[in-house]
Amino acid sequence: MSVIAARPAPQRPLPFAAETIAAGLLDWYGGNRRDLPWRAQPGVTQDPYRVWLSEIMLQQTTVTAVRPYYENFLARFPTVESLAAADADAVMAAWAGLGYYARARNLHACARAVAARGGFPTSIEGLQALPGIGAYTAAAVGAIAFGRPAVPVDGNVTRILARLAAIAAPLNQARAAIGAAAASLAATRAARTRAGDLAQALFDLGAGICTPAAPRCAACPCRAECAAARLGLAEALPNKPPRAARPRRFGVHFWLEDAAGRVLLRRRPPRGLLGGMNELPGPAWRAAPYAEAEALAAAPAPAAWRRAGEVHHVFTHFELTVTVFAARVERIVAEGSLCARTGLGSAALPSLMRKCAALAAAQPAGLAAG
Ligand code: ADE
Repeated sequence: MSVIAARPAPQRPLPFAAETIAAGLLDWYGGNRRDLPWRAQPGVTQDPYRVWLSEIMLQQTTVTAVRPYYENFLARFPTVESLAAADADAVMAAWAGLGYYARARNLHACARAVAARGGFPTSIEGLQALPGIGAYTAAAVGAIAFGRPAVPVDGNVTRILARLAAIAAPLNQARAAIGAAAASLAATRAARTRAGDLAQALFDLGAGICTPAAPRCAACPCRAECAAARLGLAEALPNKPPRAARPRRFGVHFWLEDAAGRVLLRRRPPRGLLGGMNELPGPAWRAAPYAEAEALAAAPAPAAWRRAGEVHHVFTHFELTVTVFAARVERIVAEGSLCARTGLGSAALPSLMRKCAALAAAQPAGLAAG
């Protein structure tokens, strides 16, 4: 993702009318804006904390998936000061399930930096100097919370711009052209006067009209200015090179429960994938599947282990198949911490581990005590 703040128009005129497009988007937004929990009502000043929090969360996943996390997070940490003062574990627990846990650590570091300086900086450069705020987030927060004339370029906005300007080059070679299109939108009167509405109009257009498949061009406020629509190319753009197949990896995790209903957890190393999160113990993930005997040799304690089943999980760069083993013992003597199974919901467990825990906990006849 990248940000394009206002800068002089490129030498070669772009094949789209930025002023008309931006004005049309604002008009359309007036009657079609989505009601979203982080969005202030028209005319109400946006709280930068809410804007920032929502933008960080929306980089992870869809609006629908973010809603409950956002609302829960805000209930627990209603201000940037309360987030700054929170325990790292409480922040990770509220984030658990959203993925990309380094973002939660950066979120916390950013809240501390903002609280220490007495509030969010209002310039794009100032925002971008904060932990975890890249070009995209600085543009989104700058535009929405502070009216800075910037166009945040995420996947949705990239798609819209590639279509409006009929940029046919493969996306990895089209960054400069997309950037130039965004820059010319950022230089419009609409961006100078209502940058936040323009950014959010682009998000809403991408979500409901200029969708990846089957775009609803007939309902689009930019149809008359859209080069791709004119050329019959809307659905074909952007030109995304096919994604390479994700490699597969394999893992084993152990659900060990004691007579008091407490489950053994371990903490992953602070850096790397799922860094600092809790997990059910298990050996390192690897490219080859584990044979059962090899898997059980890595168990955290001797017990009558039963195979509970398999969990499949897709990460950005690989797919993981985890075999889950489960056992119950009177007393757990092993390295790690014990968490009541009823308290797992509020432990900092990533989605993968929640799936593993759900599988083990659903064992039909319960687990025989080992
Ligand atoms: N996607 C990224 N940021 C967004 C926002 N503020 N509203 C809706 N969708 C978004």
